[in-house]
Amino acid sequence: MAVTAVLAALNLLISVQGAVVESVPRASGSLDSWLAAETPIALQGVLNNIGSGGVFTEGAVEGIVIASPSKADPNYYYTWTRDSALTLKTLVDNFIAGASDLESTIKDYINIESVLQGVSNPSGSITDGSGLGEPKFNVDGTAFTGAWGRPQRDGPALRATAMIAYANYLIDNGQTSTAKEIIWPIVQNDLAYVAQYWNQTTFDLWEETQGSSFFTTTAQHRALVEGNTLATALGESCANCVSQAPQILCFLQSYWTGSYILANFANNGRTGLDANSILGVIETFDPEASSCDDVTFQPCSERALASHKAVTDSFRSIYSLNSGIAAGSAVAVGRYPEDVYQAGNPWYLATTAAAEQLYDAIYQWNKIGFINITSISLSFFQAIYPSAATGTYAAGSSTFNALISAVKTYADGYMSVVERYTPADGTLSEQFQRDNGVPLSASALTWSYAALLTAAARRAGTVPASWGSSKANTVPTTCSASSAKGSYTSATNTAWPTAPTSSTRPSCTPPSDVSVTFQEIVTTSPGQDIYLTGNISALGSWSTTAGKAIALSAQDYRSADNLWYVALTLPSDTAFEYKFFKNESGMIIWEDDPNRVYVVPSDCGVSTACINDSWQ
Ligand SMILES: *[C@@H]1O[C@H](CO)[C@@H](O)[C@H](O)[C@H]1NC(C)=O
Ligand SMILES: *[C@@H]1O[C@H](CO)[C@@H](O)[C@H](O)[C@H]1NC(C)=O
Ligand SMILES: *[C@@H]1O[C@H](CO)[C@@H](O)[C@H](O)[C@H]1NC(C)=O
Ligand SMILES: *[C@@H]1O[C@H](CO)[C@@H](O)[C@H](O)[C@H]1NC(C)=O
Ligand SMILES: *[C@@H]1O[C@H](CO)[C@@H](O)[C@H](O)[C@H]1NC(C)=O
Repeated sequence: MAVTAVLAALNLLISVQGAVVESVPRASGSLDSWLAAETPIALQGVLNNIGSGGVFTEGAVEGIVIASPSKADPNYYYTWTRDSALTLKTLVDNFIAGASDLESTIKDYINIESVLQGVSNPSGSITDGSGLGEPKFNVDGTAFTGAWGRPQRDGPALRATAMIAYANYLIDNGQTSTAKEIIWPIVQNDLAYVAQYWNQTTFDLWEETQGSSFFTTTAQHRALVEGNTLATALGESCANCVSQAPQILCFLQSYWTGSYILANFANNGRTGLDANSILGVIETFDPEASSCDDVTFQPCSERALASHKAVTDSFRSIYSLNSGIAAGSAVAVGRYPEDVYQAGNPWYLATTAAAEQLYDAIYQWNKIGFINITSISLSFFQAIYPSAATGTYAAGSSTFNALISAVKTYADGYMSVVERYTPADGTLSEQFQRDNGVPLSASALTWSYAALLTAAARRAGTVPASWGSSKANTVPTTCSASSAKGSYTSATNTAWPTAPTSSTRPSCTPPSDVSVTFQEIVTTSPGQDIYLTGNISALGSWSTTAGKAIALSAQDYRSADNLWYVALTLPSDTAFEYKFFKNESGMIIWEDDPNRVYVVPSDCGVSTACINDSWQ
């Protein structure tokens, strides 16, 4: 936005102080041009709310994300673990996509969260992990001790996801040791918390309902899956991630009613139609998903689409803002139809979420190469494309193209609703009034800005990294109540390596090949041999046949040290998956899932690496 436009907007605000700034919807321009202006405002809006440099963060310590500058009616001048984590995930994804100036903010966040993990609070302390479920803290980093809906068990999972995204970036950029020494100890606490407490009741993301919450469960499943992958890449392990993730996935299935996602298991007298489920679907979005997987509730799955329709339809008749809008056109979306907070209004972040799910789905259909309309998703499609019929439509067919176009128009409709009720200066509050669209409740809400940014990015086809859903979608045959007790240690290392200045930077040629020694501790009996194979040709491309799979040596095997090993020269920076297997006179015995993952180091000066595994 030009400086003059900003000044004009400020003048408008000043001249009408106390009055309603925008009492009528603005005429919508093109959505493209509005988003081009609004996204930098939203990014600045986020940064304005992050201490200590943010203009609205008086008294906040470095890295603290305030929820909103609003200190009264309502007072949101706190830092919430959930809002901060979702916001930082957005910043990390933007950073990876090229916004390099965001890295110092990401590090500040990681530093302060490592401190907050150790702050004892009314939910508990780090000793047994219970304190990690505390929903919010004061902006100076001290515990908030007033009454509140606690614990909220989505926070640690979301924080792990934000930090894992950055850790994976570091690994991909030759900074594995930084990821391991600084980020892993923090993430490990959060993963331990999820694995230990996922099967206990929680307050939901709206802080009102105690029970079990779809959004929370999706976030927990995702975090343990990608947490275990990170652990492996760092030469660490997360056995509790491995044991608990399938059980969380099992429990996740129970939210499906047959026609929509029930947002909560709780005695709250509601229908269970709630933007909670749309936000959960966005959380579980995996751009690399190999199908429109129902089990992980992918955005393009029949379950997620049917639920999108049920949730958004629930707001059509209750807000006068939505009256006269045809079925199949986008509406203003709130949290849940029974909402009475601030008299129950549409929320910006719920409305952008309705758009974002559909942009995600479009990405998936294009990638997977077809749309499958089923009896479950049929009504979603028919509302926006009346001649839709069950069947499979291949990419490139005219029906596929027409369906994509209808979904895109529908998704853009939600963004246009947000555009219509955003004031000229671009500020995004928490809500807009259900009858006249005037912004209300907390002003400059960090999460509203972050939600606008992610929806706009998905609209532009920019997607985050995969979290591995396609290898984590096997539901155990029986669900059981479970928990794995973890151990917790305050993470104290915040000594980020400083890059040498260019004048003193030593010259460095990254290695082209690295000698990687695979060590596997595995007890074998005579006649059993150990091999490894993996997804790259140097490891045999998953073959178990002689000459392709790699044989390990038992030369140093002792009864006190059951070591098998082999050294291989591999190109640096190669990502691969692998597994060990036993060969007992031709009978192949595999290690348990998941596949192991490794990236050959590419750090300057490295010529050897050692992977220490034991039979799983
Ligand atoms: C714990 O898990 C079991 C099995 O999935 C489920 O029946 C129960 O509702 C869960 N309880 C909570 C609070 O998550
Ligand atoms: C489409 O969905 C139907 C109903 O769930 C299923 O039977 C069929 O296998 C699906 N087709 C494809 C190509 O996924
Ligand atoms: C496994 O053992 C059998 C029988 O000893 C042998 O023929 C086969 O080549 C072995 N497999 C590998 C991968 O070496
Ligand atoms: C092997 O697996 C890694 C990690 O999942 C992946 O990044 C890589 O692209 C795969 N390589 C091949 C050749 O499939
Ligand atoms: C693996 O074990 C060797 C000793 O056998 C040790 O020198 C090395 O540091 C270990 N590597 C990791 C990543 O723990």
